[in-house]
Amino acid sequence: MKVLVTGGAGYIGSHTVLSLLENNYEVIVYDSLVNSSIESLNRVEKLTGKKVEFIEGDICDKDKLSEVFEQFTIGAVIHFAALKAVGESAKIPLSYYQNNVYGTVCLLEVMEHNNVHDFIFSSSATVYGEENDVPYVETMKLGTPSSPYGASKVMVERVLNDLALSDSNFRGVSLRYFNPIGAHESGQIGEDPKGIPNNLLPYVAQVAVGKREKLSIFGDDYPTQDGSCERDYLHVMDLAQGHVAALDWLNRHNDFTGVEAFNLGTGNGVSVFAIVKAFEKAIDKTIPFEVSPRRAGDLPAFWANATKANEQLNWHAERNLTQMMSDTWRWQSSNPNGYLA
Ligand code: NAD
Ligand code: UD1
Repeated sequence: MKVLVTGGAGYIGSHTVLSLLENNYEVIVYDSLVNSSIESLNRVEKLTGKKVEFIEGDICDKDKLSEVFEQFTIGAVIHFAALKAVGESAKIPLSYYQNNVYGTVCLLEVMEHNNVHDFIFSSSATVYGEENDVPYVETMKLGTPSSPYGASKVMVERVLNDLALSDSNFRGVSLRYFNPIGAHESGQIGEDPKGIPNNLLPYVAQVAVGKREKLSIFGDDYPTQDGSCERDYLHVMDLAQGHVAALDWLNRHNDFTGVEAFNLGTGNGVSVFAIVKAFEKAIDKTIPFEVSPRRAGDLPAFWANATKANEQLNWHAERNLTQMMSDTWRWQSSNPNGYLA
């Protein structure tokens, strides 16, 4: 089966492409490279010994997308392509709605026109907003995320639900990721943020490798065990395998139509201080840090109830925190400048 992967050159996309190839899916990647490098896919090809078909293009370009659907017989689409920087989304909200919402609508229109109905969407734990109690479970009503980025994910989930109501052939899966970290165990592919990292693990890794002086821990006065925020960190290879599990689930359930959401997380909350300690232990080195004020929009603590994915997708997050840390380090220390090196 041929799978079209939008945004497949990016962090989660490249790891998922690797897992798909290892599970004998054929992959076509469609990516504008706005936040990634083709080198990630060169490395995936080397690691798997398999070919990745690559087309450079924007999901907002319906003509180009249509050509792809005409050229290949596509069985399903996994849709990663999006802008994802929470802070930036408040500064340029229109770009975020254009890319993440309008771009998704373009893709869904081209799929509909070409009678392709199987769709897996990169959603986020952020869709639960601040209204819901932890652990988050899929039956909860979606909340109102504080950022345009988060709002774009809620909007797309709504689009998918409305589409499913109007088109009885549509088969959608929303995967709500918690906090993916880590890298492929080879250290050959990993997260390669442009500029100053926004997310915790890439920042910690850049401090460890000497590119940044010290980590700022955003707040130690939250109502949590040690005062820092708690998140549900999961290994990116577990997350990648979650996509294969979702595709297998769609293929097993021929009579399914509609949209189904699944949380992909470990079910455990881990604090920022605990992450720093775990990283220090994995690399046997101290990470300099300071405590700074809270970051706007951060919630004190959230983690997944992942029972639905465990039971229905036969998927579990299997890799532990130590492995997440040592794989991050293997990637960062052997590629201090990411894919540029
Ligand atoms: P990433 O930036 O590494 O990957 C996104 C890819 O999409 C990049 O390769 C980028 O070049 C491409 N892209 C962006 N806009 C495009 C467009 N208009 N047309 C074509 N390609 C485009 O990000 P990631 O961390 O791999 O995230 C993948 C998906 O998962 C995103 O939808 C993101 O919102 C979602 N997500 C990520 C996280 C996380 O912590 N990384 C958490 C929850 C959800
Ligand atoms: C954020 C977004 C989420 C998005 C995800 C991936 C919010 C509320 N959530 O998740 O929607 O899907 O990024 O892009 O913005 N931290 C520090 N110092 C740092 C960086 C982070 O202390 O330099 C702390 C944060 O305060 C947070 C934790 O580390 O408590 C994790 O932060 P981060 O990696 O940015 O992820 P989230 O904020 O959970």
